[in-house]
Amino acid sequence: MIDVTLRAGMLEKRREDAVVIPLLAGRKLTAVCNHLPEETAEFLKNFLRNFDSKGGFGDIHTLYQVPGLHCYRLVLVGTGEEKSLTLDGLRRLSAKVSRKLEKSGARSAACYLADAEARATSLVDRIQAVSEGITLGLYTFDHYKTKKNEQHRPLQRAFVMILDRTRETLAMCQQALARGVSIAEGVNFARDLANHPGNVCTPAYIAAQALSLQDDHISVEVMDKAAIEAAGFRALLAVNQGSAKEPRFIVLRYNGAEDDSAPIALVGKGLTFDAGGISIKPGPKMDEMKYDMCGSATVLGVFKAASALGLKANLLGVIPSTENLLGAAAFKPGDIITAYNGTTIEVLNTDAEGRLILADALAWAAEQNPAEIIDFATLTGACVVALGSQASGLMGNHKPLLKALSAAGDRTHDRVWELPMYEEYQKQIDSHIADIRNIGGPGAGTITAACFLSRFIGEHHWAHVDIAGTAWNMQGDALAAKGATGAAVRLTLDYLMHRFAMDDRSEVDHEDADS
Ligand code: BES
Ligand code: MN
Ligand code: ZN
Repeated sequence: MIDVTLRAGMLEKRREDAVVIPLLAGRKLTAVCNHLPEETAEFLKNFLRNFDSKGGFGDIHTLYQVPGLHCYRLVLVGTGEEKSLTLDGLRRLSAKVSRKLEKSGARSAACYLADAEARATSLVDRIQAVSEGITLGLYTFDHYKTKKNEQHRPLQRAFVMILDRTRETLAMCQQALARGVSIAEGVNFARDLANHPGNVCTPAYIAAQALSLQDDHISVEVMDKAAIEAAGFRALLAVNQGSAKEPRFIVLRYNGAEDDSAPIALVGKGLTFDAGGISIKPGPKMDEMKYDMCGSATVLGVFKAASALGLKANLLGVIPSTENLLGAAAFKPGDIITAYNGTTIEVLNTDAEGRLILADALAWAAEQNPAEIIDFATLTGACVVALGSQASGLMGNHKPLLKALSAAGDRTHDRVWELPMYEEYQKQIDSHIADIRNIGGPGAGTITAACFLSRFIGEHHWAHVDIAGTAWNMQGDALAAKGATGAAVRLTLDYLMHRFAMDDRSEVDHEDADS
């Protein structure tokens, strides 16, 4: 794994294999190039005069053995217009150039991308974005490749560079870098868990991964099938009936605040493979249903990062986990089951199983007196139709919570889009024979799934994040290699860091403006 650290200093002193600098639109360089040795400045001036790229966003160009520099490669990264550059743009550029460097064979790099003053951003935010970008961009999953690429010479060290070496700036940037790396490692943890296939990533495996997070601040409790039966999680058990693998009910506690401060409950769907059950899914892309545990991966990724960040909050993680398969013992359309809170459910489609296992988990979480409940689930194909892969669906019962999550989504570019929960939608899950049914008809499938969940929340503040369209990506882009994306990990951490005022950043904003 790459080692990302902060350094302060001038470009011409760097001895890494590669030095990365921003190239602004109009072939302009940034402050890092203000005091170069004359021969270097002269060389770059001539080069840029004849350079045919205009510094468009994402254009990368490498110069070798530039006079006056010690580094072998000087890598110019086009940022586009400085005024339209965003933190997310910076994160993506950092990811893209890191991958390119890794392919080039460079083993060490010094990266000055935070020197591009993206609009309305502070230096610390840019440092965090670059650190996240490097750590996310270099993520790969080659666990099952027996021949690791021989040409592959991984980048070992990346320095995120700043020019100002005053103590305060160094300390602030140091923290920002640690924040970026911790958050990205949380995302990468979620990705790893979800990228393992269903024969490896089983309910017991998710439980083991949760247990592996235990430390001074995180404790984990795992219920096996007998404990689940004793507790009365009958909806989870109904979904599990067709599976030869035992279910798990996993509870995590992160203690970062006073013991008596109510926890934020984070509930994640941990469906390790969803064949649909007796209401079996069509063949094409069914393999992708190994990702149906991505909600649980989000929760674990958030816990891992929360502990690394020293988040000043209490968290309660709840993960119901099972497969949804077919077999002689499988639950069937028409079956009526009684959830943990006593609500009776008519099962009209065994493929609407996520809401069933979440029903038990949410009802149990609601009993633990949480300050609020946020759940994450690859819940509906309808959400993919509505929003594609650009935003997760957001629903809930408390406007301020939804607003705060949307704002966190915009800040992190791990975006969410709110869908309405008008009272009228609730009628769609009425059942003639039980309290509710588990499907709501053809219209508004994402919303009626949320309506179903709302029956298990009680009076608590609650938000539901449907990550069906965002949790994995079969194309791959700069930030996320093909496969699991770790969706909603950055969103949630940003939300929590703001809610629990870990923001020491406002001060730096002003300092920045002066320098
Ligand atoms: N895990 C699926 C939802 C899903 C489908 C996520 C495709 C990502 C891509 C969920 O369990 C499911 O099957 N939902 C059904 C609900 C329907 C039967 C009401 C769906 O969306 O088709
Ligand atoms: Mn399903
Ligand atoms: Zn599912």
